[in-house]
Amino acid sequence: MAEEDPQEQLLQAQILKHTFGFVYSFVLKCSIELGIFDTIHNNRGNPMTLSILATSISNTILSISNHKLYRLLNYLVHMGLLQKHVTFAVEGEGRKEEPEFSLTDLGEFLLKDGEKSLASWALAIIDEGDMGCWHQLSSCCSSKDDQRTAFERIYGASVWDLAAKDAEVNRVINDAMAGDTRLVMPAFIQGCSSVLEGIGSMVDVGGGTGMAMSMVAEAFPHLKCMVFDLPHVVATAPQLSHVSMVGGDMFQSVPSADAILLKFMLHNWQDDECVKILKKCKEAIPKEAGKVIIMDIVVDSEMENSDLTHSKLSLDIDMMITSGGRERTVEEWERLLDIAGFRSHEIIPIITIQSVIVAYP
Ligand SMILES: C[S@@+](CC[C@H](N)C(=O)[O-])C[C@H]1O[C@@H](n2cnc3c(N)ncnc32)[C@H](O)[C@@H]1O
Repeated sequence: MAEEDPQEQLLQAQILKHTFGFVYSFVLKCSIELGIFDTIHNNRGNPMTLSILATSISNTILSISNHKLYRLLNYLVHMGLLQKHVTFAVEGEGRKEEPEFSLTDLGEFLLKDGEKSLASWALAIIDEGDMGCWHQLSSCCSSKDDQRTAFERIYGASVWDLAAKDAEVNRVINDAMAGDTRLVMPAFIQGCSSVLEGIGSMVDVGGGTGMAMSMVAEAFPHLKCMVFDLPHVVATAPQLSHVSMVGGDMFQSVPSADAILLKFMLHNWQDDECVKILKKCKEAIPKEAGKVIIMDIVVDSEMENSDLTHSKLSLDIDMMITSGGRERTVEEWERLLDIAGFRSHEIIPIITIQSVIVAYP
């Protein structure tokens, strides 16, 4: 009989872990939808027993089973989003084990209205409508003429064209991006105040509903701030004090300013489209002192086995199937800026998934 190799068992488990990667996504989605994180949080920071939690999240449409909820909660403990505490309740003569659950620091990121909430971003990425796109990944890898993304094959329109026609798609995208912005802009403001020295005006191109600019305007009150995005996005944006909103198409022209911000923009586009956008931005800033400030992912050349690299590479594939863009390495960013005619640039790492790339005309 062949000797069993313990190493092989580990390898099999690793393959199953990759095969079941989607379980993480769906348990996360379901838990946000059921309001598990918010309900525990609203218990004034105290752990909650399984039965009270089940009663609290049950509603008129859905009556929650304690047993099924318990399995879900165990998975969330496995994911590091909840912590389990075992307590004992008196029952008749004996004592019955009663598990309680509390939020971990990681789970706090999934509170719907938390200051650092990634809940709407997670829901947008695990959106039911986008799931079909993932099944088209193989055809997306084709080198043949049909260069449409999986999203375009399914919906017959780009993400942005569909958002212009469908108010709910528009809302999901804008809420998701506002969530990312709330989380990352403090790091930008803290780490890049020197980048804004000597700058009197700034336009956030593709700035969504204005979250980034309103945070910049609050931190740097002397700055004249503007958001530029497609008309259907600007139309749904709230009125913001000290931030003006302009609708338009960045491929046609970009409003003039001392600095232009491109946050999570260029990763949505292919290289030739990025060069067009960058050239329009270059035309809109002063030749000597102007700046284009890019906040985007820089993929590490060494594919280390870290959560950060995993997230960046996952977003890269997400871009392939949805918008048709990509994430880029330092060398790829350098090449792009060079072709677009920028004289120099610097990359400033900040404590977020994105880095800041300042390009000088
Ligand atoms: C991924 S979102 C980024 C939003 C925002 N910069 C952020 O990081 O939160 C891309 C944005 O680009 C905008 N956009 C797409 N095509 C555009 C165009 N041709 N002109 C102006 N904005 C455009 C979209 O409407 C959307 O708000």
